[in-house]
Amino acid sequence: MCGIVGYIGSKSALDILLDGLTNLEYRGYDSAGIAVNIDGMVELYKAEGKLQNLKDITEANRTHITKSTIGIGHIRWATHGAPTTINAHPHSCNCGKIAVVHNGIIENYKELRENLEKQGCVFRSQTDTETVAHLVAHKYAQTNDLTEAVRLATKEIEGAYALCVIHQDVKDTIVATRRNAPLLVGIGEGEYYLASDVPAIIQHTKKAMYIDDNQIVTLTPNSMKYIDTDKNVLEPKIEHLPWEPVALSKMGYKHFMLKEIHEQPDVVRNVLSGKLKAIDEKIKLDEVTLNANDFKNLTRIQIVACGTSLHAAMIGKYIIEDFCGIPVDVEPASEFIYRRTITDKNTLVIGVSQSGETADTITAVRQAKALGSHILIVTNRPDSTMAREANSLVPVNAGIEVSVAATKSYMAQVISFYLLAIYMAEVKESMELSELNKLKHELIVLPQKIEEVLAHKESIKACAKRFANAKDFIFIARGINFPTALEGALKLKEISYINATGYTAGELKHGPIAMLDESMPVLSILITGKVYEKILSNSEEAKARNARMIALTNSTDEKINDLFEAIIRVPEIDELVSPALAIVPLQLLAYYIAEFLGKDVDQPRNLAKSVTVE
Ligand code: G6P
Repeated sequence: MCGIVGYIGSKSALDILLDGLTNLEYRGYDSAGIAVNIDGMVELYKAEGKLQNLKDITEANRTHITKSTIGIGHIRWATHGAPTTINAHPHSCNCGKIAVVHNGIIENYKELRENLEKQGCVFRSQTDTETVAHLVAHKYAQTNDLTEAVRLATKEIEGAYALCVIHQDVKDTIVATRRNAPLLVGIGEGEYYLASDVPAIIQHTKKAMYIDDNQIVTLTPNSMKYIDTDKNVLEPKIEHLPWEPVALSKMGYKHFMLKEIHEQPDVVRNVLSGKLKAIDEKIKLDEVTLNANDFKNLTRIQIVACGTSLHAAMIGKYIIEDFCGIPVDVEPASEFIYRRTITDKNTLVIGVSQSGETADTITAVRQAKALGSHILIVTNRPDSTMAREANSLVPVNAGIEVSVAATKSYMAQVISFYLLAIYMAEVKESMELSELNKLKHELIVLPQKIEEVLAHKESIKACAKRFANAKDFIFIARGINFPTALEGALKLKEISYINATGYTAGELKHGPIAMLDESMPVLSILITGKVYEKILSNSEEAKARNARMIALTNSTDEKINDLFEAIIRVPEIDELVSPALAIVPLQLLAYYIAEFLGKDVDQPRNLAKSVTVE
């Protein structure tokens, strides 16, 4: 949520900033801006709307702007103040010498602003960030030292922030700091980069350092000063980033979402690799530090997550309870954090997050950690803030996901939950060996089955065309595929803006059935197994109310042909593993419907991929 880039070195900063912002566009796309220093003057370029608008403005002044070898940039997801050009970052102070970009929320900005206004500051925007620019300017006037000015400002600001600051009079310096918002430094030869996330810098360097809370870096082209906010000098911990720049290319697909859907067979193979080696070998999860005794003492598992990760967590609940007999609660992290936290040292708390930076989930795991619970993090970003809170880690290895609508990361999380649940069942010896082996076999052959679904995507596209004009959509399922119904509905509403809802099929008759008529598509997830017949009856009930019935099924049962107007087929699969297969056609259905409607698939309105504010 909001993306920051920075560059200082000997190259022209402009394209580095714009390319960096392009690769961070998934973090927000309400407005964008850069600040550069040209001939000793800080200049701001800002534009409302998509990044392209900023690119158009800077292109018109390219010869001039390319002179700058220092700059900071920002892509915004509005929190305080409408997404206008005035509210776009960077923000500046009265004299215009300072430029600040910020990700996060300054919680006490109103008091700070009132105070600063009394001292003569004239505010131009409605943002919380502008207070930081004025505050740093005040501190600079007192100290004549930019690092010290930023340090003193951080003592007065409350809330979450990643900040990068430049000053006209120290034109070879960027100062950056953070608290509860991600920020990293990329290290080159005679140059440094700053970014809120790896994609902004990975094409330039793989050498990086993550800044931690309450730490400040001062960068010049040839030096990095690294202190904490109490002025202690810190030793930089330089890491090698394990990402490949190629992950950011669409590889010929029209959208990142479509490319990422197609990556899922390989994602499954990657997640399983090294952890599930053979059917008769136990699952290996190297970074899970709980031993058999810890498992014996566990009375409960609490899972916290948001959005798509929450749906993966719901599948996790189902299989952990089924395989291990341990009660599992799943709650949206945003709810968990605002009521009494009832976890203790016998509760395993699992945080699930693609980005590892979702503010609500970070707060939730910190609250549970403070009460002594073991924290296990399932994340696609082992380098994230959340991963650093972990006692145990399950890295999901989906690779960088660019599309705002999560697909391959969901798949990787779901598969990771299978591994975790089987691992726990093996440690607890709570399941028959033959059943465990059957599950392992199903996971190993899953990639081919996903490939089969992808190979038949034209039929899903045809189905999408048929239903693209629906105003509403209902997804029904029972049991282990109820989260699949929720996730299918979420995908559709996120990118097509069709009002889509997932229901447990048995609940349909308790209210939602009132909405059914000939204009309402109802998609039944009809997988053979425990609840197959039940969902079939629920589908009959919906059909009797004239709903337009669609089946997503592995069944070859001929009697369904008359019941459903459209049938999306998936290969035969064990019900217990079916959520990992059934989601793929639903992702494709949502994708193609959004495509037919001409929506901006990779950057749906109002959303951001990584939500770093509560
Ligand atoms: C945002 C994204 C969702 C995502 C959710 C949780 O709302 O738009 O796609 O599922 O955050 O993100 P996380 O990184 O914690 O999985």
